[in-house]
Amino acid sequence: MRAFLSIAAPLAVGAALELPVCSQVHTDYAGASWDRSVRIYEYVSNANPTMTEVPVRVYPPSMHQRGPSAIMPFDLSSELEVDYPATSPNLLANFVRVLENETLETGVAFAATSQTFYVIRGRGSSLTRNGTVEWAAGDMFVLPYFGDDVEPVCTTSAAGAQCVVHTCAAEPEYGGCALYWVHDEPLLQYLGVEPSSRRRFDPAFYTSVAMKATVQSLSNTDADGEVKNRRGILLGNSATSQTRTLTPTLWSLLNTIGPKMNQKPHKHNSVALDLAVYAAEGAPVYTRMSRELDGEGALVNPMMAKWETGGVFVTPPGWWHSHHNEGDEDAWVMPVQDAGIYTHQRTLDFRFADEEVARLQAGRARGATIDLATTRTSENLYRGTPAECGAR
Ligand SMILES: *[C@@H]1O[C@H](CO)[C@@H](O)[C@H](O)[C@H]1NC(C)=O
Ligand SMILES: *[C@@H]1O[C@H](CO)[C@@H](O)[C@H](O)[C@H]1NC(C)=O
Repeated sequence: MRAFLSIAAPLAVGAALELPVCSQVHTDYAGASWDRSVRIYEYVSNANPTMTEVPVRVYPPSMHQRGPSAIMPFDLSSELEVDYPATSPNLLANFVRVLENETLETGVAFAATSQTFYVIRGRGSSLTRNGTVEWAAGDMFVLPYFGDDVEPVCTTSAAGAQCVVHTCAAEPEYGGCALYWVHDEPLLQYLGVEPSSRRRFDPAFYTSVAMKATVQSLSNTDADGEVKNRRGILLGNSATSQTRTLTPTLWSLLNTIGPKMNQKPHKHNSVALDLAVYAAEGAPVYTRMSRELDGEGALVNPMMAKWETGGVFVTPPGWWHSHHNEGDEDAWVMPVQDAGIYTHQRTLDFRFADEEVARLQAGRARGATIDLATTRTSENLYRGTPAECGAR
């Protein structure tokens, strides 16, 4: 009789045993070949498999300030070890430059459940499968998957059924409009799925005017009369009232950091793809980030990403990070994250460093969730209606 399994030497981490005997034993049933895909690993040495990290990256505004009309994907697929374009495991972010009086098609190669476009610069319009939207700098719009029956709007089939046609009407400064485009195709590629034909949420258009007015409506001082170091609004949709996210997968925030202010270190499990909407020239505005905190709650050997108006930086998941504005004006940032997924899963695990240190000093370590009794959620600040914001 053959030995079923003998281990001569300890297994290296991640190593899989090859058991050729098994395929010889079971030859008398239909699924005999299914054992070829089987891999079995020792638990403790593989429970935290070696995964490449989401890297810290900065994409400067110069990318969309010159050159012909183009889509510029932030492709970190080789760093992430996937065989499709991706900026983070779930999302792909891009700059889109459209020269004045030109038209450019943006499409996803496979499929996406959510696409968001933020207008960095210029004035123009976008033809979607649900009509045309007119936009100007600071506006944002979000598209769901419109289903299989709605006609594509592009002229080249290469752009795919979900494509959008963008036209730049005017942009005097750099001769071309610029958009920041983020979608969740990498998540669908990973799962090997396409969206169902049912529309999961309705498209939404967030005007710059409405977003700025809502931020301005927030008090600039806290309960003790101190000037706040931030005013921020989460961008939601009527289909995501529980998670308060842009779409079921995407999350976005329009956030200010006041002059000479620091925002304390925090972390979350989502990956942040942060667009620096405005950072005054001169005194630096930047984000510091690190895997670790020391005993006082300070970042250990932090990396620094400088904010440049119209630039993007990637903050890896679970890294502690803090924002700093040494200038004399408010700085504005708009992160797009995959936090819709984490919030729904109850695994966003948002933490502030000072609370974390106080808890650990008191001998307590918390898990990923928070007792409902200690959480706080305020009411909706702005509700779009056709009368209020539909017609532009
Ligand atoms: C775009 O078209 C407008 C209106 O016809 C014109 O005034 C402008 O010069 C054009 N811009 C370019 C870059 O050709
Ligand atoms: C947009 O979608 C809605 C819902 O299906 C539909 O009622 C409306 O006619 C569409 N508009 C355009 C311009 O396609």
